[in-house]
Amino acid sequence: MSKLSIESKNVRFPVAPDLYGLFFEDINRAGDSGLYPEMLRNRSFEDSIPPERCTLSEDGSVFTTPMGWSDQFNGGEGLAKWLDGVPPTPVPAWYADSAVMTLDESERLNEKRLVGMKVDFSPGGAVRNIGYRGVPLKSGNTYHFYMFAKAENVPITLNAAIVSKDGTIQDETVFTVTPGQYERYDCTFTAVADDFDGEFVFTSPEKATVCFGFVSLMPADTYKGHGMRKDLMELLEGVNAKFLRFPGGCIVEGFTYETAMRFPNTIGPVWERPSHTLMWHYRTTNGLGFHEYLQICEDLNLEPMYVINCGLTCQGREPEFFEGEELEQLLQEALDAIEYATGDSSTPMGKLRTEMGHPEPFRMSYIEIGNENAGDEYNWRYKKFYDVLKAKHPQIKYISNTHTELDGLPTEIADEHYYNTPEFFAENTHFYDDYDRTGPEIFLGEYAVTVGAVTASLYSALAEAMFLLGVENNQDIVTTSAYAPLFQNVGYTAWYPNLIAFDNHRSYGIPTYHMLSMLGGNRGKEVVKLNVETEKLHRDIAGLPGIFSPKGGLFFRNATVNGKPVSVSNEVQGRFTQNGNECRADSAPPARTGYVFPGADAIDNVVFATLGNNAETCYTYEVEAKTSESDSITLTVWCHRPFSVFRIDETQDPDELNIDSIRCFEWTLNGTASTVSEFYYKRHHPIGKEVPVSVNLKEYNAFKIITREDGFDCYINGTLVHEAYLPKYPAVAATAATDDDGIIVKAVNITEAEEAIEISLDCAVQPDYEVELLTATDRDEVNTLDAPNTVVPAIKTLTGAGKTFTYSAPAYSLSILKLKK
Ligand code: AHR
Repeated sequence: MSKLSIESKNVRFPVAPDLYGLFFEDINRAGDSGLYPEMLRNRSFEDSIPPERCTLSEDGSVFTTPMGWSDQFNGGEGLAKWLDGVPPTPVPAWYADSAVMTLDESERLNEKRLVGMKVDFSPGGAVRNIGYRGVPLKSGNTYHFYMFAKAENVPITLNAAIVSKDGTIQDETVFTVTPGQYERYDCTFTAVADDFDGEFVFTSPEKATVCFGFVSLMPADTYKGHGMRKDLMELLEGVNAKFLRFPGGCIVEGFTYETAMRFPNTIGPVWERPSHTLMWHYRTTNGLGFHEYLQICEDLNLEPMYVINCGLTCQGREPEFFEGEELEQLLQEALDAIEYATGDSSTPMGKLRTEMGHPEPFRMSYIEIGNENAGDEYNWRYKKFYDVLKAKHPQIKYISNTHTELDGLPTEIADEHYYNTPEFFAENTHFYDDYDRTGPEIFLGEYAVTVGAVTASLYSALAEAMFLLGVENNQDIVTTSAYAPLFQNVGYTAWYPNLIAFDNHRSYGIPTYHMLSMLGGNRGKEVVKLNVETEKLHRDIAGLPGIFSPKGGLFFRNATVNGKPVSVSNEVQGRFTQNGNECRADSAPPARTGYVFPGADAIDNVVFATLGNNAETCYTYEVEAKTSESDSITLTVWCHRPFSVFRIDETQDPDELNIDSIRCFEWTLNGTASTVSEFYYKRHHPIGKEVPVSVNLKEYNAFKIITREDGFDCYINGTLVHEAYLPKYPAVAATAATDDDGIIVKAVNITEAEEAIEISLDCAVQPDYEVELLTATDRDEVNTLDAPNTVVPAIKTLTGAGKTFTYSAPAYSLSILKLKK
């Protein structure tokens, strides 16, 4: 039984009006193909062009920046896994039958384009576009098409058609394309059958040469007629959010000067916007640009939160830093963007906005200076931008990427990001309780359960909800928050999980989506005092022990579990060689490219093995160990089943055991100190305080761990040196807020059993009350494209509320009780 006592007359503070928001970043092809429903992939023919100043590997699979960061390219198709089922082609997404496609710099549509596509058609020849895993055709739906094209010498006849997978033409238009300058040609198509694996095809009845400068095919029916995909906008509407952070994320930073998000590149006619390669492995034509984001905010009544680059590229990807002219330019672009949004039509930027069809100013509420930047290189740039922007636009609230107030800088709002395990979020429901009330406001700018055997599950959503209820209980300082990332085209996953998943015609929200919709839809007006009495729980220790060292040159012998000899069962990383009674471990770094988590521990030289084959739940683990090269030795517990791993997407084997995926508790000795931590996500997360010890690690010592139900005791040569206790989480987390009608009580039961919650109030309430409930038959349940409604909220009407009454919270559930005064 848990108890909630609510003092409805004891108001703590008003609710933060913008607490729940959205964070949009063009990742997983969230923009083109998603919210911005372009149906033709590679509409500007530029996808196969590597990013400026980057070198390409001989086979075209990888590019490398001038600073030495590499990423997959694969001829412009992006990640290798996205190539699955996609036939090779020199011009991504385009295929020629009896025709020859050539990318031609001299045939560019305008100076912002890098190439045009010249096609030499044989009589009856064709070029086809396969879209983003199919051009989705829905019977009765209309699509707008336009192209900029020119014939080589004489006017030619060109057929454009939407076609079913089997080649059946659903609708077609015959254009006469003239020679000379590029001309724009428009038409609409209407589909006559459902085929989500359709194609778009140009055919020429005669031998002809045509240059294409830019093409586009979009649904006619879009959200409020403003060009965005309807089902995805409706899903956004359903989150009950108050602001939109855009356009990133890492893509704001980019990986070179040219690949950073730049305001001027995202306004004006879309075919005149330069394209660039995004951090997330594909090129954007920036059709979803600054104006479009502001229009989305207006259409969904969201406060705009614009993230600007303040002079440095992604610090986790071998950064470039900008000073002088380049930095001044970025600052000017930030000023121009604000003027574009808020200036009247007489200002140069306001005039541009008016020309784009929006004479009235938009809103601009928040500006974030940089994304995930930190350190000295960030601080002085942040200060420079803050001072100039604040002086000119004092009404805007400015967000810093870190706690810059600790470095003496003016800081209105500090952005914090947490990607972690479900346990992290549940165990940290009181995270903000002790935060400094005189410090800046906090923006929980990105968070998500990304580590765990089953992510995007009900369990992840409930763990996040526990953290968020902690946020609600501290919304006097945590005033804004956003889950990250927002969208995922399931055919182009670069990051998992994401709030909303879609393919070219379907979409759904993960359980977190519904959790957020519930929390955001039930805000109340004032947070009131609440006392929670509930059991404090901890995780089980279960699994194999192991041994770990940051470098090779690790020796060990006489390893036993419960007195029985054990040897290496999984070489997680490094080479382990048994020589008689002694085992020696040496480094064997894995080949790696890609993103290095800022602040991540160096793991390439780590040696790590599990010992024994039985997953014990309680054991005594003994081993003698020494090291010749390293400063520390680590013994691990609970490092085998049940696995809890970082998974990049749903297809990754949840049983895969490697240094990236392993997660365990660990006891580390560095000669003078003993530390207990949890290792996951390639980092050591300390638990409790360090204990002083004195041990010579260059000689053999006898180490012993005896696991307890709630932790483990650590011995060196028979002496107890460290008692470790596992972190705790409450069985029930809750909040209470009042509004004009009554009291809103939110409660998460994160346990596997139904929990009776006794609720006592200081006021009378009506017996009948409504409950919004999010639960499922299993905590690991997820939503999918085929079963989008497995974990969705239900509304129940209950009776029996009073000054003291009991509510039964189902196992693994979020309940929102609406009590009427
Ligand atoms: O949300 C995905 C990425 O996570 C964002 O681009 C970045 O800000 C963070 O590292």
